[in-house]
Amino acid sequence: MKNPVQIVLLTGGSSGIGAATAQMLHDNGMIVYAASRRGSLPDGIQASSTLIPVKMDVNDADGIEAVVKHIVQQQGRLDAVVCNAGNGIAGAIEDTSEHEARTQMETCFFGAVKTIQACLPVFRRQGHGRIITVTSVAALIPIPYQAFYSAVKAALLIFTKALSIEVKPFGIQCCSILPGDTKTGCTSARKYTEASQDKDSPYYERMSASVGKMEHDEQNGMAPTVIARAVCHQLKRRRMSVTVTPRLDYKLIGLLSHWLPDRLMLWIVGLLY
Ligand SMILES: NC(=O)c1ccc[n+]([C@@H]2O[C@H](COP(=O)([O-])OP(=O)(O)OC[C@H]3O[C@@H](n4cnc5c(N)ncnc54)[C@H](OP(=O)(O)O)[C@@H]3O)[C@@H](O)[C@H]2O)c1
Repeated sequence: MKNPVQIVLLTGGSSGIGAATAQMLHDNGMIVYAASRRGSLPDGIQASSTLIPVKMDVNDADGIEAVVKHIVQQQGRLDAVVCNAGNGIAGAIEDTSEHEARTQMETCFFGAVKTIQACLPVFRRQGHGRIITVTSVAALIPIPYQAFYSAVKAALLIFTKALSIEVKPFGIQCCSILPGDTKTGCTSARKYTEASQDKDSPYYERMSASVGKMEHDEQNGMAPTVIARAVCHQLKRRRMSVTVTPRLDYKLIGLLSHWLPDRLMLWIVGLLY
């Protein structure tokens, strides 16, 4: 049976989960526009007329509009958008400036919002379209010293759910994928806030130990292909799930976050970090 999705715009295609997803969607017969600021694919992934790297910053609304317009001109349609581009900041809340917090919000939340808003008119006109956001289990579990990252992913998760209600009458489906620790470039791309690097900060030692543990878990985490497989599976299904948490252990963590009393949940997270 032919894939319901043929033409895909994917953000954050130059590295990690996005690069693995671009490759997997392409291997499954889709034409993929893999967007990133670098505008390239990593070593080992070959660009072609059906796996197309695109230079695009998700913070630039005009640039996104131009890319969407170009795809529709070239292919006559756009079937799906995967909003995966993201980065993380680390540091205690008291050690994070408003500017640093807003920067986190810009790329991970408004970057996805701008990308989705550019695609929606096309999807509505077509009477079909699929939107996948890549959020995180950090949207369910509050992560200390990465509170702004956690908050932004939670915002994008609830946004995706609300969006799915608004756009359902137009034949548009939405899904959010919630990865757990995954071995990608996100660890080296993470920026520590300026004040958090001051050894005199009262948070310095606990923050360094906690984020160090999180980074160790990421670098020993699952392969990005695990997340890519989940994205690909959703795009090939007739009806997408609303949320998907890949791998059983993270599914269980997600379930516990709903079932456990908050006090117990926070105690466990506090023990871990
Ligand atoms: N790795 C994990 O453990 C994990 C866990 C949960 C969720 N996630 C989420 O998974 C997504 C992918 O992250 P990753 O782990 O694969 O990290 P990564 O290897 O660092 O990849 C991040 C991608 O986002 C792109 N990007 C960043 N800022 C951008 C911007 N302003 N405009 C366009 N593209 C931008 C980067 O490309 P350029 O630098 O070339 O622009 C890169 O391709 C993120 O949303 C992340 O929060 C990751």
